[in-house]
Amino acid sequence: MRARVVLDRDYAIGEVDRRLFGGFAEHLGRHIYEGIYEPGHPLADEDGFRRDVIELVRGLGMTVMRYPGGNFVSGYNWEDGVGPRSERPRRLELAWRATEPNEFGANEFIQWCRKVGADPVIAVNLGTRGPEDARRLVEYCNHPSGTELSDWRRSHGFAEPHGVRLWCLGNEMDGPWQMGHKTATEYGRAACEAAKLMKWVDPEIELVACGSSGRFMPTFGAWEMEVLDHTFDHVEYLSIHTYLGNREDDSASFLAKPDAMDDFIEETVACCDAVAAKRRSAKRIMLSFDEWNVWYHSNDDPPHEPWSVAPHQLEDVYTAEDALCAGAMLISLLNHADRVKVACLAQVVNVIGAIMTEAGGPAWRQTIYHPFALASANAQGRALRAVVESPLYDCRERQGVPVLKLAAIDRGDGLTLLALNRDLAQPLDMTVDLRGFGPLAVGEWTVLRHDDLKATNTREYPDRVRPASHSGAAVDGAQLRATLPPASWNVIRLVCGIG
Ligand code: AHR
Repeated sequence: MRARVVLDRDYAIGEVDRRLFGGFAEHLGRHIYEGIYEPGHPLADEDGFRRDVIELVRGLGMTVMRYPGGNFVSGYNWEDGVGPRSERPRRLELAWRATEPNEFGANEFIQWCRKVGADPVIAVNLGTRGPEDARRLVEYCNHPSGTELSDWRRSHGFAEPHGVRLWCLGNEMDGPWQMGHKTATEYGRAACEAAKLMKWVDPEIELVACGSSGRFMPTFGAWEMEVLDHTFDHVEYLSIHTYLGNREDDSASFLAKPDAMDDFIEETVACCDAVAAKRRSAKRIMLSFDEWNVWYHSNDDPPHEPWSVAPHQLEDVYTAEDALCAGAMLISLLNHADRVKVACLAQVVNVIGAIMTEAGGPAWRQTIYHPFALASANAQGRALRAVVESPLYDCRERQGVPVLKLAAIDRGDGLTLLALNRDLAQPLDMTVDLRGFGPLAVGEWTVLRHDDLKATNTREYPDRVRPASHSGAAVDGAQLRATLPPASWNVIRLVCGIG
Protein backbone atom coordinates (compact mmCIF):
# COMPACT_ATOMS: atom_id res chain seq x y z
CA MET A 1 0.00 0.00 0.00
CA ARG A 2 1.17 3.49 -0.86
CA ALA A 3 0.25 7.00 0.20
CA ARG A 4 1.51 10.30 -1.13
CA VAL A 5 1.62 13.55 0.77
CA VAL A 6 2.41 17.03 -0.56
CA LEU A 7 3.58 19.68 1.87
CA ASP A 8 4.32 23.26 0.94
CA ARG A 9 5.91 25.46 3.55
CA ASP A 10 3.78 28.40 2.41
CA TYR A 11 0.47 26.60 2.98
CA ALA A 12 -0.17 26.86 6.69
CA ILE A 13 -3.26 26.13 8.75
CA GLY A 14 -2.02 28.22 11.65
CA GLU A 15 0.32 28.47 14.60
CA VAL A 16 -0.10 25.61 17.07
CA ASP A 17 -1.19 27.19 20.35
CA ARG A 18 0.79 25.56 23.14
CA ARG A 19 -2.45 25.36 25.12
CA LEU A 20 -3.49 22.54 22.77
CA PHE A 21 -1.53 20.29 25.13
CA GLY A 22 -3.63 20.80 28.24
CA GLY A 23 -5.00 18.44 30.84
CA PHE A 24 -8.10 18.23 32.97
CA ALA A 25 -8.19 17.35 36.69
CA GLU A 26 -11.58 16.79 38.32
CA HIS A 27 -12.64 15.95 41.85
CA LEU A 28 -13.72 12.53 40.69
CA GLY A 29 -12.73 9.08 41.92
CA ARG A 30 -9.02 8.94 42.74
CA HIS A 31 -7.88 11.79 40.54
CA ILE A 32 -7.21 14.29 43.30
CA TYR A 33 -6.98 12.03 46.35
CA GLU A 34 -4.48 9.15 45.83
CA GLY A 35 -3.65 10.64 42.42
CA ILE A 36 -2.33 14.16 42.84
CA TYR A 37 -2.57 14.50 46.60
CA GLU A 38 -1.63 11.75 49.03
CA PRO A 39 0.07 13.22 52.12
CA GLY A 40 0.89 9.84 53.62
CA HIS A 41 2.64 8.55 50.51
CA PRO A 42 6.40 7.90 50.88
CA LEU A 43 7.04 10.23 47.92
CA ALA A 44 4.71 13.04 49.09
CA ASP A 45 6.31 16.48 49.16
CA GLU A 46 5.85 19.18 51.82
CA ASP A 47 2.40 20.01 50.38
CA GLY A 48 1.22 16.41 50.26
CA PHE A 49 1.61 16.13 46.47
CA ARG A 50 3.00 12.90 45.05
CA ARG A 51 6.43 13.65 43.59
CA ASP A 52 6.26 10.65 41.27
CA VAL A 53 3.03 11.96 39.77
CA ILE A 54 4.46 15.47 39.41
CA GLU A 55 7.39 14.03 37.47
CA LEU A 56 5.13 12.02 35.18
CA VAL A 57 2.83 15.00 34.55
CA ARG A 58 5.87 17.11 33.70
CA GLY A 59 6.85 14.41 31.24
CA LEU A 60 3.51 14.88 29.48
CA GLY A 61 4.44 18.49 28.77
CA MET A 62 1.01 19.77 29.81
CA THR A 63 0.70 23.51 29.34
CA VAL A 64 -2.68 24.23 30.95
CA MET A 65 -4.80 22.34 33.49
CA ARG A 66 -8.58 22.64 33.77
CA TYR A 67 -10.16 22.21 37.22
CA PRO A 68 -12.23 21.34 39.35
CA GLY A 69 -14.70 19.74 36.91
CA GLY A 70 -16.44 18.47 34.95
CA ASN A 71 -19.79 17.49 36.36
CA PHE A 72 -18.37 18.06 39.84
CA VAL A 73 -18.14 21.83 39.40
CA SER A 74 -21.88 22.22 38.92
CA GLY A 75 -22.51 21.53 42.62
CA TYR A 76 -19.27 22.91 44.06
CA ASN A 77 -18.86 25.66 46.66
CA TRP A 78 -15.33 26.90 46.07
CA GLU A 79 -15.25 28.42 49.57
CA ASP A 80 -15.36 24.87 51.01
CA GLY A 81 -11.88 24.22 49.62
CA VAL A 82 -9.95 27.22 50.98
CA GLY A 83 -8.64 28.17 54.42
CA PRO A 84 -7.52 25.93 57.28
CA ARG A 85 -8.08 22.26 56.41
CA SER A 86 -9.50 21.49 59.84
CA GLU A 87 -12.36 23.91 59.17
CA ARG A 88 -13.24 22.65 55.71
CA PRO A 89 -16.58 20.79 55.48
CA ARG A 90 -17.10 17.27 54.21
CA ARG A 91 -19.93 17.30 51.68
CA LEU A 92 -22.06 14.92 49.69
CA GLU A 93 -20.85 15.17 46.10
CA LEU A 94 -23.88 14.52 43.92
CA ALA A 95 -22.33 14.30 40.46
CA TRP A 96 -20.36 11.15 41.24
CA ARG A 97 -22.10 10.04 44.49
CA ALA A 98 -19.01 10.37 46.68
CA THR A 99 -18.03 12.25 49.84
CA GLU A 100 -15.83 15.27 49.16
CA PRO A 101 -13.44 15.95 52.07
CA ASN A 102 -12.30 19.30 50.61
CA GLU A 103 -8.71 18.73 51.71
CA PHE A 104 -7.67 19.95 48.27
CA GLY A 105 -9.08 23.16 46.79
CA ALA A 106 -8.27 26.11 44.57
CA ASN A 107 -5.04 27.14 46.32
CA GLU A 108 -3.64 23.60 46.39
CA PHE A 109 -4.58 23.24 42.73
CA ILE A 110 -2.65 26.37 41.80
CA GLN A 111 0.35 25.29 43.87
CA TRP A 112 0.30 21.92 42.11
CA CYS A 113 -0.01 23.59 38.68
CA ARG A 114 3.12 25.61 39.39
CA LYS A 115 4.96 22.40 40.23
CA VAL A 116 3.89 20.58 37.06
CA GLY A 117 4.51 23.65 34.89
CA ALA A 118 0.92 24.14 33.70
CA ASP A 119 -1.19 27.30 33.76
CA PRO A 120 -4.39 26.89 35.79
CA VAL A 121 -7.78 27.05 34.07
CA ILE A 122 -10.73 27.29 36.46
CA ALA A 123 -14.35 26.42 35.77
CA VAL A 124 -17.03 28.23 37.77
CA ASN A 125 -20.28 26.71 39.01
CA LEU A 126 -23.16 27.86 36.82
CA GLY A 127 -25.26 24.85 37.85
CA THR A 128 -26.35 25.28 41.45
CA ARG A 129 -24.74 28.72 41.72
CA GLY A 130 -24.36 31.68 39.42
CA PRO A 131 -22.73 34.99 38.42
CA GLU A 132 -22.28 36.28 41.97
CA ASP A 133 -20.22 33.29 43.14
CA ALA A 134 -18.28 33.30 39.90
CA ARG A 135 -17.20 36.92 40.29
CA ARG A 136 -16.35 36.30 43.96
CA LEU A 137 -14.00 33.47 42.92
CA VAL A 138 -12.27 35.70 40.35
CA GLU A 139 -11.83 38.35 43.05
CA TYR A 140 -10.48 35.77 45.51
CA CYS A 141 -7.96 34.47 42.98
CA ASN A 142 -6.93 37.50 40.97
CA HIS A 143 -7.50 40.74 42.90
CA PRO A 144 -4.25 41.91 44.54
CA SER A 145 -5.49 43.03 47.97
CA GLY A 146 -7.62 45.47 49.95
CA THR A 147 -11.00 43.74 49.61
CA GLU A 148 -12.62 41.11 51.78
CA LEU A 149 -12.06 38.30 49.29
CA SER A 150 -8.54 39.21 48.17
CA ASP A 151 -7.51 39.67 51.80
CA TRP A 152 -9.12 36.34 52.58
CA ARG A 153 -6.77 34.73 50.04
CA ARG A 154 -3.83 36.55 51.60
CA SER A 155 -4.85 35.32 55.04
CA HIS A 156 -4.74 31.79 53.58
CA GLY A 157 -1.06 32.24 52.80
CA PHE A 158 -1.18 33.54 49.22
CA ALA A 159 -0.07 37.17 49.25
CA GLU A 160 0.31 37.40 45.49
CA PRO A 161 -2.73 37.11 43.21
CA HIS A 162 -2.90 33.81 41.36
CA GLY A 163 -3.41 35.52 37.99
CA VAL A 164 -5.68 32.84 36.57
CA ARG A 165 -6.14 33.89 32.97
CA LEU A 166 -8.59 31.41 31.45
CA TRP A 167 -11.99 30.56 32.98
CA CYS A 168 -14.79 28.22 31.95
CA LEU A 169 -18.38 29.37 32.36
CA GLY A 170 -19.74 26.13 33.83
CA ASN A 171 -19.54 22.64 32.39
CA GLU A 172 -21.72 20.71 29.92
CA MET A 173 -24.77 22.79 30.81
CA ASP A 174 -26.75 21.24 27.91
CA GLY A 175 -26.70 17.81 29.59
CA PRO A 176 -29.66 16.58 31.68
CA TRP A 177 -27.12 14.77 33.89
CA GLN A 178 -25.69 18.13 34.95
CA MET A 179 -26.68 19.69 38.27
CA GLY A 180 -28.56 22.85 37.31
CA HIS A 181 -28.98 21.72 33.68
CA LYS A 182 -30.28 24.61 31.60
CA THR A 183 -31.90 25.34 28.29
CA ALA A 184 -29.75 27.29 25.85
CA THR A 185 -31.67 30.46 26.71
CA GLU A 186 -31.28 29.97 30.45
CA TYR A 187 -27.60 29.13 30.14
CA GLY A 188 -26.87 31.85 27.59
CA ARG A 189 -28.31 34.50 29.91
CA ALA A 190 -26.52 33.17 33.01
CA ALA A 191 -23.21 32.85 31.15
CA CYS A 192 -23.50 36.37 29.75
CA GLU A 193 -24.15 37.89 33.17
CA ALA A 194 -21.40 35.84 34.83
CA ALA A 195 -18.98 36.86 32.07
CA LYS A 196 -19.73 40.55 32.55
CA LEU A 197 -19.18 40.44 36.29
CA MET A 198 -16.05 38.31 36.04
CA LYS A 199 -14.46 40.63 33.49
CA TRP A 200 -15.42 43.70 35.46
CA VAL A 201 -13.42 42.23 38.35
CA ASP A 202 -10.47 41.35 36.09
CA PRO A 203 -10.53 42.61 32.48
CA GLU A 204 -7.46 40.52 31.64
CA ILE A 205 -9.26 37.19 31.85
CA GLU A 206 -10.52 35.11 28.91
CA LEU A 207 -13.72 33.08 28.98
CA VAL A 208 -14.99 29.80 27.58
CA ALA A 209 -18.75 29.36 27.11
CA CYS A 210 -20.17 25.83 27.12
CA GLY A 211 -20.82 24.33 23.72
CA SER A 212 -22.46 20.94 23.34
CA SER A 213 -21.34 18.00 25.49
CA GLY A 214 -20.98 15.96 22.35
CA ARG A 215 -21.96 15.75 18.71
CA PHE A 216 -24.62 13.20 19.72
CA MET A 217 -26.63 15.78 21.67
CA PRO A 218 -30.03 16.44 20.07
CA THR A 219 -29.57 20.16 20.70
CA PHE A 220 -26.13 20.33 19.02
CA GLY A 221 -26.00 23.26 16.62
CA ALA A 222 -29.05 25.05 17.95
CA TRP A 223 -27.38 25.16 21.39
CA GLU A 224 -24.20 26.73 20.03
CA MET A 225 -26.06 29.38 18.06
CA GLU A 226 -28.35 30.43 20.88
CA VAL A 227 -25.64 30.42 23.56
CA LEU A 228 -23.46 32.59 21.34
CA ASP A 229 -26.37 34.89 20.54
CA HIS A 230 -26.25 35.77 24.25
CA THR A 231 -22.53 35.59 24.96
CA PHE A 232 -20.77 36.52 21.70
CA ASP A 233 -19.52 39.89 22.90
CA HIS A 234 -18.29 38.56 26.24
CA VAL A 235 -16.41 35.32 25.50
CA GLU A 236 -13.38 34.28 23.49
CA TYR A 237 -13.96 30.52 23.27
CA LEU A 238 -16.68 27.90 22.98
CA SER A 239 -16.10 24.47 24.51
CA ILE A 240 -16.37 21.15 22.69
CA HIS A 241 -16.05 17.62 24.17
CA THR A 242 -15.52 14.17 22.65
CA TYR A 243 -14.97 10.71 24.13
CA LEU A 244 -14.42 7.71 21.87
CA GLY A 245 -14.70 4.00 22.59
CA ASN A 246 -14.49 0.56 21.03
CA ARG A 247 -17.39 -1.22 22.70
CA GLU A 248 -18.12 -3.05 19.45
CA ASP A 249 -14.57 -4.47 19.45
CA ASP A 250 -14.06 -3.37 15.86
CA SER A 251 -10.58 -1.86 15.67
CA ALA A 252 -10.85 -0.58 12.10
CA SER A 253 -13.98 1.37 13.04
CA PHE A 254 -12.46 2.55 16.30
CA LEU A 255 -9.47 4.06 14.50
CA ALA A 256 -11.82 5.80 12.07
CA LYS A 257 -13.76 7.52 14.86
CA PRO A 258 -11.34 10.45 15.33
CA ASP A 259 -12.38 11.63 11.84
CA ALA A 260 -15.78 12.45 13.35
CA MET A 261 -13.88 14.80 15.65
CA ASP A 262 -12.74 16.71 12.55
CA ASP A 263 -16.38 16.94 11.45
CA PHE A 264 -17.47 18.07 14.90
CA ILE A 265 -14.85 20.82 15.00
CA GLU A 266 -15.77 22.07 11.54
CA GLU A 267 -19.49 22.03 12.33
CA THR A 268 -18.94 23.92 15.58
CA VAL A 269 -16.77 26.49 13.82
CA ALA A 270 -19.57 26.92 11.26
CA CYS A 271 -22.02 27.67 14.10
CA CYS A 272 -19.64 30.23 15.62
CA ASP A 273 -19.12 31.93 12.28
CA ALA A 274 -22.85 31.92 11.51
CA VAL A 275 -23.45 33.93 14.68
CA ALA A 276 -20.61 36.27 13.68
CA ALA A 277 -22.17 36.67 10.24
CA LYS A 278 -25.57 37.57 11.71
CA ARG A 279 -23.82 40.35 13.59
CA ARG A 280 -21.59 41.39 10.66
CA SER A 281 -18.75 40.84 13.10
CA ALA A 282 -15.11 40.20 12.25
CA LYS A 283 -14.61 38.59 15.66
CA ARG A 284 -13.85 34.88 15.54
CA ILE A 285 -14.82 32.67 18.46
CA MET A 286 -12.13 30.05 18.99
CA LEU A 287 -12.67 26.52 20.31
CA SER A 288 -11.58 25.09 23.62
CA PHE A 289 -11.63 21.31 23.18
CA ASP A 290 -11.47 21.00 26.93
CA GLU A 291 -12.41 17.33 27.25
CA TRP A 292 -11.20 14.67 24.85
CA ASN A 293 -10.07 11.09 25.28
CA VAL A 294 -10.90 7.41 24.91
CA TRP A 295 -13.45 6.38 27.55
CA TYR A 296 -15.36 3.12 27.57
CA HIS A 297 -13.47 0.36 29.42
CA SER A 298 -14.91 1.34 32.79
CA ASN A 299 -18.48 1.81 31.53
CA ASP A 300 -19.59 -1.57 32.89
CA ASP A 301 -17.63 -1.52 36.15
CA PRO A 302 -19.65 -2.53 39.21
CA PRO A 303 -21.01 0.49 41.09
CA HIS A 304 -18.78 1.88 43.81
CA GLU A 305 -19.84 2.18 47.46
CA PRO A 306 -21.96 5.36 47.46
CA TRP A 307 -20.63 8.32 49.43
CA SER A 308 -17.17 6.83 49.90
CA VAL A 309 -14.11 9.09 49.65
CA ALA A 310 -12.05 8.72 46.46
CA PRO A 311 -13.68 5.52 45.18
CA HIS A 312 -12.28 3.68 42.16
CA GLN A 313 -14.27 5.31 39.34
CA LEU A 314 -13.70 5.58 35.59
CA GLU A 315 -10.38 3.75 35.90
CA ASP A 316 -10.00 2.74 32.28
CA VAL A 317 -6.94 0.60 31.65
CA TYR A 318 -5.82 1.65 28.21
CA THR A 319 -4.69 -0.60 25.39
CA ALA A 320 -2.24 -0.16 22.53
CA GLU A 321 -5.11 0.61 20.13
CA ASP A 322 -6.41 3.26 22.53
CA ALA A 323 -3.01 4.95 22.23
CA LEU A 324 -3.36 4.90 18.44
CA CYS A 325 -6.82 6.43 18.75
CA ALA A 326 -5.59 9.12 21.16
CA GLY A 327 -2.74 9.82 18.74
CA ALA A 328 -5.27 10.23 15.93
CA MET A 329 -7.31 12.63 18.07
CA LEU A 330 -4.19 14.73 18.55
CA ILE A 331 -3.76 14.81 14.77
CA SER A 332 -7.35 16.08 14.43
CA LEU A 333 -6.66 18.85 16.94
CA LEU A 334 -3.44 19.92 15.21
CA ASN A 335 -5.12 19.98 11.82
CA HIS A 336 -7.53 22.60 13.20
CA ALA A 337 -4.88 24.77 14.82
CA ASP A 338 -6.44 27.85 13.26
CA ARG A 339 -9.58 27.53 15.41
CA VAL A 340 -8.80 25.13 18.26
CA LYS A 341 -6.66 27.13 20.66
CA VAL A 342 -7.08 25.13 23.87
CA ALA A 343 -7.50 21.38 24.38
CA CYS A 344 -7.47 19.26 27.52
CA LEU A 345 -6.86 15.55 27.74
CA ALA A 346 -9.59 14.27 30.07
CA GLN A 347 -8.21 13.31 32.38
CA VAL A 348 -4.70 13.08 33.80
CA VAL A 349 -4.44 10.71 36.78
CA ASN A 350 -6.41 7.51 37.52
CA VAL A 351 -9.74 8.79 36.17
CA ILE A 352 -9.63 7.96 32.44
CA GLY A 353 -6.06 8.97 33.09
CA ALA A 354 -2.79 9.06 31.23
CA ILE A 355 -1.20 8.10 34.54
CA MET A 356 -2.27 5.37 36.95
CA THR A 357 -1.32 5.21 40.63
CA GLU A 358 -1.61 2.79 43.49
CA ALA A 359 -2.32 4.19 46.95
CA GLY A 360 0.96 4.06 48.86
CA GLY A 361 2.56 2.44 45.81
CA PRO A 362 3.92 3.27 42.38
CA ALA A 363 2.67 5.42 39.53
CA TRP A 364 3.01 4.42 35.89
CA ARG A 365 2.33 5.59 32.35
CA GLN A 366 -0.78 4.29 30.62
CA THR A 367 -0.52 3.66 26.88
CA ILE A 368 -2.22 6.97 26.00
CA TYR A 369 0.48 8.84 27.89
CA HIS A 370 2.91 8.31 25.04
CA PRO A 371 1.23 9.96 22.04
CA PHE A 372 0.40 12.97 24.20
CA ALA A 373 3.95 13.40 25.50
CA LEU A 374 5.44 12.92 22.04
CA ALA A 375 3.05 15.37 20.40
CA SER A 376 3.56 18.00 23.08
CA ALA A 377 7.33 17.73 22.74
CA ASN A 378 7.46 17.67 18.95
CA ALA A 379 4.45 19.52 17.55
CA GLN A 380 5.57 23.07 18.21
CA GLY A 381 5.32 25.54 15.36
CA ARG A 382 2.98 26.06 12.41
CA ALA A 383 0.54 23.36 11.35
CA LEU A 384 0.71 22.88 7.58
CA ARG A 385 -2.15 22.07 5.24
CA ALA A 386 -1.13 18.65 3.93
CA VAL A 387 -2.52 17.19 0.73
CA VAL A 388 -2.91 13.46 1.40
CA GLU A 389 -3.57 10.82 -1.27
CA SER A 390 -4.16 7.63 0.66
CA PRO A 391 -5.81 4.26 0.12
CA LEU A 392 -9.30 4.30 1.64
CA TYR A 393 -11.26 1.74 3.63
CA ASP A 394 -14.89 1.29 4.58
CA CYS A 395 -16.02 0.28 8.05
CA ARG A 396 -19.07 0.35 10.30
CA GLU A 397 -18.13 3.85 11.47
CA ARG A 398 -17.81 5.55 8.10
CA GLN A 399 -17.05 5.09 4.40
CA GLY A 400 -13.88 6.10 2.58
CA VAL A 401 -11.59 6.41 5.58
CA PRO A 402 -8.01 7.35 4.56
CA VAL A 403 -5.58 4.72 5.84
CA LEU A 404 -3.08 7.51 6.49
CA LYS A 405 -4.02 10.21 9.01
CA LEU A 406 -1.34 12.86 9.23
CA ALA A 407 -0.42 16.22 10.69
CA ALA A 408 2.63 18.23 9.66
CA ILE A 409 4.22 20.91 11.82
CA ASP A 410 6.79 23.38 10.53
CA ARG A 411 8.99 23.90 13.60
CA GLY A 412 11.15 26.56 12.03
CA ASP A 413 14.25 24.40 12.50
CA GLY A 414 12.65 21.50 10.68
CA LEU A 415 9.47 19.56 10.20
CA THR A 416 7.55 17.14 12.43
CA LEU A 417 5.20 14.60 10.91
CA LEU A 418 2.66 12.79 13.07
CA ALA A 419 1.39 9.88 11.01
CA LEU A 420 -1.03 7.06 11.77
CA ASN A 421 -1.18 3.96 9.58
CA ARG A 422 -4.70 2.67 10.25
CA ASP A 423 -4.24 -0.53 8.30
CA LEU A 424 -4.16 -3.30 10.88
CA ALA A 425 -2.17 -5.76 8.79
CA GLN A 426 -0.14 -4.01 6.13
CA PRO A 427 2.72 -1.52 6.14
CA LEU A 428 2.16 1.76 4.32
CA ASP A 429 4.78 3.17 1.96
CA MET A 430 4.56 6.93 2.42
CA THR A 431 6.23 9.51 0.20
CA VAL A 432 6.15 13.16 1.17
CA ASP A 433 6.95 15.88 -1.38
CA LEU A 434 8.61 18.68 0.55
CA ARG A 435 8.20 22.02 -1.15
CA GLY A 436 9.95 25.16 -0.04
CA PHE A 437 11.88 23.72 2.90
CA GLY A 438 15.42 23.65 1.57
CA PRO A 439 17.63 20.72 2.53
CA LEU A 440 16.12 18.41 5.15
CA ALA A 441 17.31 15.18 6.72
CA VAL A 442 15.70 12.60 8.94
CA GLY A 443 16.56 13.42 12.54
CA GLU A 444 14.54 10.93 14.54
CA TRP A 445 11.68 8.51 13.92
CA THR A 446 9.69 7.30 16.91
CA VAL A 447 7.04 4.64 16.49
CA LEU A 448 4.27 3.64 18.87
CA ARG A 449 2.77 0.22 18.20
CA HIS A 450 2.38 -3.24 19.69
CA ASP A 451 1.81 -6.65 18.06
CA ASP A 452 -1.15 -7.09 20.40
CA LEU A 453 -3.63 -4.22 19.97
CA LYS A 454 -5.10 -5.08 23.36
CA ALA A 455 -1.78 -4.89 25.23
CA THR A 456 -1.90 -2.70 28.35
CA ASN A 457 0.58 -1.15 30.79
CA THR A 458 0.11 -2.38 34.33
CA ARG A 459 1.78 -2.06 37.72
CA GLU A 460 3.80 -5.20 36.98
CA TYR A 461 4.50 -4.36 33.32
CA PRO A 462 4.43 -0.55 33.13
CA ASP A 463 6.39 -0.37 29.85
CA ARG A 464 4.74 -3.06 27.78
CA VAL A 465 3.47 -0.41 25.35
CA ARG A 466 5.98 2.35 24.81
CA PRO A 467 7.56 4.27 21.95
CA ALA A 468 10.63 2.94 20.20
CA SER A 469 13.14 4.39 17.77
CA HIS A 470 12.67 3.32 14.20
CA SER A 471 14.89 3.57 11.16
CA GLY A 472 14.61 3.31 7.41
CA ALA A 473 13.23 6.74 6.49
CA ALA A 474 15.28 8.80 4.05
CA VAL A 475 15.09 12.15 2.29
CA ASP A 476 16.09 12.04 -1.35
CA GLY A 477 16.21 15.52 -2.86
CA ALA A 478 12.90 17.04 -1.79
CA GLN A 479 11.13 13.77 -1.09
CA LEU A 480 10.82 11.78 2.12
CA ARG A 481 10.20 8.06 1.97
CA ALA A 482 9.14 6.06 5.00
CA THR A 483 7.34 2.77 5.45
CA LEU A 484 4.94 2.97 8.37
CA PRO A 485 4.41 -0.35 10.18
CA PRO A 486 0.83 -1.68 10.36
CA ALA A 487 -1.35 -0.15 13.08
CA SER A 488 1.30 2.35 14.11
CA TRP A 489 1.44 5.98 15.21
CA ASN A 490 4.65 7.71 14.20
CA VAL A 491 6.57 10.88 14.92
CA ILE A 492 9.12 11.66 12.23
CA ARG A 493 11.35 14.65 12.90
CA LEU A 494 13.12 16.15 9.94
CA VAL A 495 15.89 18.63 10.54
CA CYS A 496 16.90 21.60 8.38
CA GLY A 497 20.22 22.45 6.94
CA ILE A 498 21.68 19.03 6.22
CA GLY A 499 22.01 18.55 2.47
O1 AHR B 1 -14.44 13.56 32.32
C1 AHR B 1 -15.51 12.89 32.89
C2 AHR B 1 -16.84 13.64 32.72
O2 AHR B 1 -17.17 13.66 31.37
C3 AHR B 1 -16.85 15.08 33.12
O3 AHR B 1 -17.08 15.28 34.47
C4 AHR B 1 -17.97 15.64 32.31
O4 AHR B 1 -17.78 17.01 31.98
C5 AHR B 1 -18.02 14.76 31.08
O5 AHR B 1 -19.29 14.31 30.83
